[in-house]
Amino acid sequence: MVKHLLTLDGLSRADIETILALSEVPPSPLLTGKGAALYFEKPSARTRNSMELAVHQLGGHPVYLTPAELGIGTRESVEDIARTLACYHGVIAARVFDHRLLEALADASPVPVLNMLSGSDHPLQGLADMLTVRQLCGRIEGVRIAYVGDGDNNVARSLAQACTTLGAQLIIVAPDAYQLSDAPAGSVQTANLDAVAGADVIYTDVWVSMGQDDDAERRQADLAAYQVNEALMARAPDAHFLHCLPARRGEEVTAGVIDGPRSAVWRQAENRMHSARGALMWLLQQD
Ligand code: CP
Ligand code: NVA
Repeated sequence: MVKHLLTLDGLSRADIETILALSEVPPSPLLTGKGAALYFEKPSARTRNSMELAVHQLGGHPVYLTPAELGIGTRESVEDIARTLACYHGVIAARVFDHRLLEALADASPVPVLNMLSGSDHPLQGLADMLTVRQLCGRIEGVRIAYVGDGDNNVARSLAQACTTLGAQLIIVAPDAYQLSDAPAGSVQTANLDAVAGADVIYTDVWVSMGQDDDAERRQADLAAYQVNEALMARAPDAHFLHCLPARRGEEVTAGVIDGPRSAVWRQAENRMHSARGALMWLLQQD
């Protein structure tokens, strides 16, 4: 059976713990002589660079691909693209607007398919977040994480799935219209900012995700009260601050918080490379 990683939903606790463990061991040469197809429909700083380095560390060669080259659905069918890429690559990784494209690739591919962000999910971010929480707090189980802002996006969904599976306590603090549409059982949602009290971690993401620019003004107005600023951080005096990045200082977070002493965003960004490597090792290792 070929393993794929399109979402953290459905992964067991043992699966995620294995990926986190593999993120912190020396790399095995699992991609020697092989490539990794990295297909991007949207821009990326962290994901592209961390994946390229992770592939290199495993002995492989990353190939960056865009819609202009592959023409999925116009120049060639998704099935033929998947079969073609699998002739050269040990893994196909993709960042897409529509999650169903990843599912179609996975259905046709004889090699693992890995989600590098879709409209609904960002599993590699969720894995890096868990690694970072464990490093900062010494454990994941029982850690109280308050996610503040746009609670119904890809980053929040993968974070919620990871927290639920690993026993962290996730509270999504968002206006009613911005709460996670399919929140896993065990996560809590509230519009009340008081819920950040006692948090070990306060997390936020942009209010306007890639592809939502047409709706930017409305979203910024709706979410204005949910900025992570010094006053909000003061309600959770022991909390670390996390953000998947890229950030918009002055919108979802102030410069004083993200550039301040409680911010661990650069450790979190570095962990994108370690967790990408762990995820690749998990996908490529024989059971
Ligand atoms: N956090 C993250 O995925 O960043 P990029 O969009 O720059 O890859
Ligand atoms: N929610 C953001 C995450 C970027 C890494 C987006 O989809 O644009």
